[in-house]
Amino acid sequence: MARVPARAIPDLVTREPLILVFDSGLGGLTVFAGVARLRPGADYVYVADDAIFPYGRLEPDFLIARVHAIMAAMIAQARPDIVVIACNTASTLVLPDLRAAWPDIPFVGTVPAVKPAALQSRSHMISVLATPGTVARDYTRDLIRDYAAHCAVTLVGSQRLAPIAEAFMHGEPVDEAEIAREIAPCFVEAHGRRTDHVVLACTHYPLLLNHFERLAPWPVDFVDPAPAIARRVDHVLREQGFAPADHGAAPRMGAAIFTSGAQAQGALAGLLRERHLVQQAAPLIGQL
Ligand code: DGL
Repeated sequence: MARVPARAIPDLVTREPLILVFDSGLGGLTVFAGVARLRPGADYVYVADDAIFPYGRLEPDFLIARVHAIMAAMIAQARPDIVVIACNTASTLVLPDLRAAWPDIPFVGTVPAVKPAALQSRSHMISVLATPGTVARDYTRDLIRDYAAHCAVTLVGSQRLAPIAEAFMHGEPVDEAEIAREIAPCFVEAHGRRTDHVVLACTHYPLLLNHFERLAPWPVDFVDPAPAIARRVDHVLREQGFAPADHGAAPRMGAAIFTSGAQAQGALAGLLRERHLVQQAAPLIGQL
């Protein structure tokens, strides 16, 4: 009798995964929080490239080389089981380069949640609020063509919101009038219909969600992709052979690395502690 070939099942990995979460600054903490909620017992390294924040204004070739160099340093030092690029501005550009350079490491990106917003919209008017870099990407235009052809999509590139969110996380006061001005172009009325979904296509923006909700000219659904990214991370880890998450596990202390080398102070230091992150020195990042 012909033998049925055994199906390839990954070996069960009994240790906890090491998850590296990367962003240009503190916005990736919104994604980190979602992942840590699903996998509280995992080991975490959070890397913020704050030395050259914000990414939204950088030339594509420079950004690809920069993220590649940081990943080379961090992968050599931390040996992560999975990398989460918790930055739309980087993900919409650098993922092919990273996957080609490190084919054995899964990379989960953060890209504008155009598809769910277009599916859920009743008015078929949605807006994508992002950095100027993300708004300019072919990747973003392709998402709109593929998933939102039935919607009127307004792309809004903000220079200011990511720096405002960053300052907010450092405990600085925010200028609500400025936030209101930045989000205003997302709200469009035409032919008796109006925008009903705003995609938060920069991981910094959910940090300002309370302000957005208060300042919105009418109520909309602000779409934060963090829960979906967290589910994706969990799924990929299980594919890699890691045991299902223990939701009751006690969180372990993770590492936070800032490429600027600046020591987190005041509000930020407290905020890292609350997230079970301890600051560590940045590794040397060559070739920059
Ligand atoms: N958090 C980043 C994003 O999701 C971008 C902020 C920036 O560095 O411009 O796009």
